[in-house]
Amino acid sequence: MERFIVNGGKPIEGEINICGAKNSAVAILPATILAKGTCTIENVPDIADVRLLLHILQSCGASVDWHDDGSVIIDTSNAVSCEPPAEDARKLRAAYYFLGVMLARFGTARIALPGGCDLGPRPIDQHLKAFSAMGCDWKVEHGTIEVKCRYQRLHGAHIFFDTVSVGATINAILAASMAEGKTVLENVAREPHIVDVANFINSMGGDVRGAGTDVIKIRGVDFFRPSEYSVVPDQIEAGTYMAAAVATKGDITILNIIPKHLEVIEDKLIRVGAEIDEWDDSLRITRRGPLYSTNLNTKPYPGFPTDMQPQLAVLLSMANGTSIVNEGIWESRFKYADELRRMGAKIEADGKQAVIEGVRKLMPADMRAPDLRAGAALVIAALAAEGTSRISDVKYIDRGYEKIVEKLTAVGADIRREILG
Ligand code: EPU
Repeated sequence: MERFIVNGGKPIEGEINICGAKNSAVAILPATILAKGTCTIENVPDIADVRLLLHILQSCGASVDWHDDGSVIIDTSNAVSCEPPAEDARKLRAAYYFLGVMLARFGTARIALPGGCDLGPRPIDQHLKAFSAMGCDWKVEHGTIEVKCRYQRLHGAHIFFDTVSVGATINAILAASMAEGKTVLENVAREPHIVDVANFINSMGGDVRGAGTDVIKIRGVDFFRPSEYSVVPDQIEAGTYMAAAVATKGDITILNIIPKHLEVIEDKLIRVGAEIDEWDDSLRITRRGPLYSTNLNTKPYPGFPTDMQPQLAVLLSMANGTSIVNEGIWESRFKYADELRRMGAKIEADGKQAVIEGVRKLMPADMRAPDLRAGAALVIAALAAEGTSRISDVKYIDRGYEKIVEKLTAVGADIRREILG
């Protein structure tokens, strides 16, 4: 058991370097299996989810060499069709990308049903709809899913997704990348990590077009050649530190970003009182005045990201006025509300909506991180509250934030990790 001890109430000031995007890296690393040989993936975030995926890759016969500069060299020459260890697969959502890559390369895949943060029901019917359309049968037995292609190779297909899903879009791209003929995917997700995965596949000789729009066309290729690729910066990590700067009235320069990916987050932060100067791959964020209330609706990209909803809610908890937050993606993403109430926040959550009446300031408290982004939000709240807060269950935060204690300490935050018994 580990927890964070935070002595809050001080502005954070300085520079923070943003690492590669979690939700890109967790798809690109399994995708190296598509090529036989040695891929070099740069800008890989040092987070628990990535460590689990690299362990799964090794268990499939790949060799993995992770360097201090954030690059990972993966040799898949000896990779075989394998079932990822259930104890790894059950810990993270992205384990399901092994279905797409194994089907593409070997025509068969088996995996324990994947875990991930508890945000409400997380079905995979749209992934299975795509695999079925490409000629696969599937069955679920004893918590394990098995998917098998009926033919020698998957067939290209025309698939219209009923829901916009990041995971189903990526899994369908992966599976279709080596399928016979052309696949058309409609009503797809458009997040920067979708474009990143498509670019990686194309860097290996694939033919994926239209990523970033709502129709993607893929022509299957016979084989891939290994490549060198750098993961895009993590817009949610950037947004999280931007929110921390705003919460503490700090002055932070965020380095290694793609400002275009942050537009909608910046827009909301400015509305609540942030001042932002932007350059080609960095920005400076400060706040001098009060926090203002605003309403928030989370939507698929380019809408406001659900993965920034809890962090914004912390700012709204200290804003002048009342804000309404509508969660448009997940059934259960307000688990942090109980924890924020311990800090004196006036937040009432009911289903997919929360009403937040801003208070003048938050008080320090002992809290438990209920999931990854909610955990990050509690860190922001603790940094803003004068006095000592303790946050337990930080394993959720470690799943998606690289060296969060070190990065915050370097900008003047008083935060430390305590290992309990
Ligand atoms: N959905 C279905 N059927 C499916 C797939 C999804 O009904 O087959 C529904 C989900 O229940 C949800 C919505 O569609 O209501 C969107 O789910 P999506 O598939 O887009 O989510 P995901 O791929 O499981 C990824 C990120 C999440 C992020 C969401 C939305 C990864 C590994 N995870 O999840 O990230 O919240 O997209 O942007 O990429 C996080 O980083 O904290 C995180 C939870």
